[in-house]
Amino acid sequence: MTQEELFKKLVAHCKEYGFIFPSSEIYDGLSAVYDYGQLGSELKNNIKRYWWDAMTKLHDNIVGIDAAIFMHPRVWEASGHVGAFNDPLIDNKDSKKRYRADVLIEDWIAKQDEKIDKEVAKGRKRFGEQFDEEQFRATNPRVKEIAAKRDEINVRMAQALNANDLEGLRQIIIDTETVCPISGTRNWTEVRQFNLMFDTKIGSVADGANTIYLRPETAQGIFVNFLNVQKTGRMKIPFGIAQIGKAFRNEIVARQFIFRMREFEQMEMQFFVRPGEELTWYAQWKEARMRWHRALGFGDDNYRFHDHEKLAHYANAAADIEFRFPFGFKEVEGIHSRTDFDLGRHEEFSGKKIRYYDAETNESYIPYVIETSIGVDRMVLQVLSAGYKEEKLENGEERTVLSIPAPLAPVKAAILPLVKKDGLPEIAHRIKDMLKYDYNIQYDEKDSIGKRYRRQDAIGTPLCITVDHQTAEDGTVTVRDRDTMEQIRIPMEEIPALVAGKAGMRALLDKLA
Ligand code: GAP
Repeated sequence: MTQEELFKKLVAHCKEYGFIFPSSEIYDGLSAVYDYGQLGSELKNNIKRYWWDAMTKLHDNIVGIDAAIFMHPRVWEASGHVGAFNDPLIDNKDSKKRYRADVLIEDWIAKQDEKIDKEVAKGRKRFGEQFDEEQFRATNPRVKEIAAKRDEINVRMAQALNANDLEGLRQIIIDTETVCPISGTRNWTEVRQFNLMFDTKIGSVADGANTIYLRPETAQGIFVNFLNVQKTGRMKIPFGIAQIGKAFRNEIVARQFIFRMREFEQMEMQFFVRPGEELTWYAQWKEARMRWHRALGFGDDNYRFHDHEKLAHYANAAADIEFRFPFGFKEVEGIHSRTDFDLGRHEEFSGKKIRYYDAETNESYIPYVIETSIGVDRMVLQVLSAGYKEEKLENGEERTVLSIPAPLAPVKAAILPLVKKDGLPEIAHRIKDMLKYDYNIQYDEKDSIGKRYRRQDAIGTPLCITVDHQTAEDGTVTVRDRDTMEQIRIPMEEIPALVAGKAGMRALLDKLA
């Protein structure tokens, strides 16, 4: 099965089992907007909790807030989003389709990587066991030629984006002979800038309506509350403010399911530091955030850093953490050294002093900021795509299993009475009652035990607890592990400790210590 087929199956699975639905589906959906179903929202809440607890409970100097989505319109002038939060767009005159110019170029670059991989595969076939991939990549003339062209285009794109050189971007599209995927032609318009913010009106129009924006990032809610939190919380630099909330962007290229949406959720943390110390903290946060991802156990090779060549208007260093999705390595989180840009601009635009008095140095200054910014939805996709597996079992049967980290699983345990009689359902309900205050638990008595196991595997339930006739006699149950499918028999009193050790959030947070 190709990665593309696998991804299609995952999308269908998400719908079939109540994880993710297209928004307003009975009206044929709304492009790039999705709803989380009964299991998707549990998974999403667990991811948010993992992040929130890692930030606010494991750090004495990080507190969380929840700012409003609507903010004063001047906020977005100060932040630079009104002037500079743009995508460069280009239209194909034949298909009338609109594309992001930089995405067309990135797609071309990705194709060069694929071409190189094909050459490497050919080399491996030709040279067999003697094949030295590193040497082949460094010396094969065809590979070198493709890589040189790819690197040249990469540099030109970064330069054009940094310089806001729209004609330069168009020229790259022409030079790479990029065609429209729909019409197959190279009949391109000029490249134009397009602002990504959604706007709306506040107040009734008769009262003199005001245009306001749906926030395109949650970070600004933290910046405008810097003084409030610092003073009321008596926070001392270095300290951080964390927030989880919705953000909105009128994305032109919306694709890959929940990877790029128009309404999405971010988990952002702004860490305020002394000027001059920001790059040390930047390096520390890069490592800390990578640790957080790797603790999920999807394999260290599936993550990498991508250091930015093109820096956003507010940053003096920036990197992405990329995860290997079925459609390639893609960004899940950004770590940005945002300098004093945002607080400085809010000071300028609001006319209010936004300074921190540092008693240790006896100085007053605008703090510098390290930001960690991660998309909740991309984390959901990471967890689902890493966990989705179709397996052939030893007995010839097949199963679809979501091997997702147990502390993030929507349902932590399923309680299954072997039969619907002989007092077994009553015992099973008692076990459910014992666990339900701490965990999301399912009770299921329908169908054969095998079918019930398959249903739980498909939604990623790490533990199935079966109540049988022996339970009625000696108070023991069997516990089946989702991944190994091994079963153990334990006394009922040991169930809470077993579930906590396997699926409690503590099990995950401990890995960060
Ligand atoms: N405050 C900085 C900021 O917003 P960003 O790189 O634009 O930086 C941060 O976004 C993260 O938000 C990304 O790494 C990604 O996980 C998520 N994100 C951004 N745009 C998104 C979209 N359209 N759909 C889903 N997630 C998105």
